[in-house]
Amino acid sequence: MGNIISTKQFKKEEVEKILAQAELMEKSLKKGNVKQILKNKIVACIFFEPSTRTRLSFETAALKLGAQVISAENAMENSSAHKGETIEDTTKIICSYADLVVIRHPVAHTPEKMAKVATKPIINAGDGANEHPTQGLLDLYTIKKEHGRLNNLNIGFGGDLLNSRTLKSLVPLLRFYKGNKFYFLSPTELELPREFIKELKNNEIAFEELRSLEEKLGELDVLYMTRVQKERFANLKDYEKVKDLFIFKKEHLKKIKKNAIIMHPLPKINEIELEVDADPRAAYFRQAQNGLYIRMALLCYSLGL
Ligand code: CP
Repeated sequence: MGNIISTKQFKKEEVEKILAQAELMEKSLKKGNVKQILKNKIVACIFFEPSTRTRLSFETAALKLGAQVISAENAMENSSAHKGETIEDTTKIICSYADLVVIRHPVAHTPEKMAKVATKPIINAGDGANEHPTQGLLDLYTIKKEHGRLNNLNIGFGGDLLNSRTLKSLVPLLRFYKGNKFYFLSPTELELPREFIKELKNNEIAFEELRSLEEKLGELDVLYMTRVQKERFANLKDYEKVKDLFIFKKEHLKKIKKNAIIMHPLPKINEIELEVDADPRAAYFRQAQNGLYIRMALLCYSLGL
């Protein structure tokens, strides 16, 4: 079954096929000749955490391809989970109505749990601080589109790396391509989990961890900023202490390469100054747009079409 649970599940050939399919989707959308490949299919979008981009781009992708959509937003309150129904029972019921289930949940590994009882493909749209595989793929698509390659790049990740599920989905995809070096830029409190670092070392991935956003700015081809995720902090005081430590400022634009790109999975709060939006190197709105093409490709992938 075409579950999408983690980017670690993919082989390089599958990733390249998905990127190529997304490119075709982008072209056909621009020409206005999208084929109704998902006619008579029903896509369920069940979101237990807030979302703008992921839910709406999945729903748009489904509609563009001719599918119909059923959805539950704020499902923690508005679904029978609120009455205590288990995720396994909820999954069995949704699978009896829909052809595919897109799920976002605050608890890590919930999509895996669902996939064990599901009779239809499950797509992980973000599980706690664990992974966000469809974002990882759209990020990869964006880097390829913006730089024309996926190898020999210096890629910096800045901000809340502890809680960034998008980083944890993107880095395993970039590992397929030679010559990339990663710079992890965060305060100690928000550094990557040690098990993630251990895995990078075991796989002989080139990386450095730095406590300053500025030190390597001039060397980066991609700066991927992340939001400090208030909702993952048990204590608001701890959040207040770190929330303003890593901010990409207008003055930093002078330091980055002429062809560098600034990415962000969005939503952004204050980690990128507003004036940066107008710089052509700010790629985050283009990145969010790419989510539509990738999700069209992924719906087809999951349904085997
Ligand atoms: N990037 C992302 O997952 O955005 P949303 O939370 O708005 O879906």
